[in-house]
Amino acid sequence: MKITFVTGNRHKVEEAVAVCAPRGITLVQNDCGYPELQEDDVAEVARYGAGYAANRLGCAVIVEDTGLYIDVLHGFPGPYSAYVYDTIGNPGILALMRDIDDRRATFRSVIGYCEPEQEPITFEGAATGKIAYREHGEGGFGYDPITEIDGTTFASMGAVKNEISHRARSFTKFADWFLRNKSI
Ligand code: IMP
Repeated sequence: MKITFVTGNRHKVEEAVAVCAPRGITLVQNDCGYPELQEDDVAEVARYGAGYAANRLGCAVIVEDTGLYIDVLHGFPGPYSAYVYDTIGNPGILALMRDIDDRRATFRSVIGYCEPEQEPITFEGAATGKIAYREHGEGGFGYDPITEIDGTTFASMGAVKNEISHRARSFTKFADWFLRNKSI
């Protein structure tokens, strides 16, 4: 079983492979790109991207979009997580959170699956934790050094991230559905 994963992010591919390979699904990375809508909902971004890429490539594809939602900031940066990371980055988020005790935050990962000329289907996974007080850990990418679950940042937990993360959950849902519905 093979599926094309449209992304330029090798970390996402590694994490997705950790879930899909043991289930017999081979991911083929394609970084042809797709327009990332500035929508309020990451599911809409994934849905649109999957439809666009499936029609452009002429084959079934998945794309994945992630947002970090910080409770006390009313869900910011949410769907704007990539822009915020590229502008103020982890130091900027830590500065916004200085002296704030309520540090709860949730990552949402949405996978869009689409076949050419068909409607996209989405699969969502979430992981709730806290914004750390400082960056910690060398692994992972993006917000991993400042997002922690049970006191350990994603950047310091190694392969355990692939068991408990938002992406592990969305890819597990996708893989189960794909094997049930697309294997003959
Ligand atoms: P996107 O899904 O690539 O648009 O991700 C939005 C932003 O969140 C980017 O800045 C990513 O680096 C970051 N990001 C996505 N997934 C993760 C993750 O699993 N951990 C930490 N940061 C992430």
